[in-house]
Amino acid sequence: MSTPRLRTERLVLRAFSADDAPTVQRLAGDREVASTTLTIPHPYEGGMAEAWIEGHASNWAERTALILAVTTETDGLVGAVGLHLKLEHLRAELGYWIGVPFWNRGYATEAAEAVMRFGFDELGLNRIQAGHFARNPASGRVMEKLGMTLEAVRREHVLKDDELEDLVLYAVLESDRHHG
Ligand SMILES: CC(C)(COP(=O)(O)OP(=O)(O)OC[C@H]1O[C@@H](n2cnc3c(N)ncnc32)[C@H](O)[C@@H]1OP(=O)(O)O)[C@@H](O)C(=O)NCCC(=O)NCCS
Repeated sequence: MSTPRLRTERLVLRAFSADDAPTVQRLAGDREVASTTLTIPHPYEGGMAEAWIEGHASNWAERTALILAVTTETDGLVGAVGLHLKLEHLRAELGYWIGVPFWNRGYATEAAEAVMRFGFDELGLNRIQAGHFARNPASGRVMEKLGMTLEAVRREHVLKDDELEDLVLYAVLESDRHHG
């Protein structure tokens, strides 16, 4: 299966292409975006976006990750959403970032809903989990809006920019979708 293309009311989620690299560098290069993620380096240097995008096809071919560009008709690329897959356990870890100019429009939630639906319905996942830094309540709100359940807080779980961060962990099971 080639990289899926998913449509929502306002968004198209599609594979990244090499042409997206300058926009990725600009949006993900914002300190405010990098600050609350585990994987986005800062400064986000030339070549990093290209290398990240280049890895997506083999990640998907090997079913280790599905990373999609979040796009709107008027603004083009506004962010990214992805599932890091552990198919041997029927689970995935959800991740997302949205460029600062596009925050608080519901895009992260709308994009994540679509990729989660694909994960449950097409990839046969049983569990999708996600984690956010305690100082990132907007991401926690997204996880709540996605119907995820708070499972744990791992105190001082990761070092980010020389600061220890508490990690708040959420998850949703396939069976949760059919109840309340
Ligand atoms: C977290 C992030 C993806 C949210 O994207 P978004 O498109 O703005 O998210 P949504 O609009 O779908 O939802 C955001 C929710 O958080 C709420 N929110 C925003 N700032 C908040 C704050 N400081 N405290 C509490 N809630 C906040 C919004 O009001 C909204 O909730 P609502 O719909 O109930 O009003 C975005 O801020 C981002 O990319 N941050 C940097 C990268 C990152 O942290 N990624 C996630 C790593 S776990």
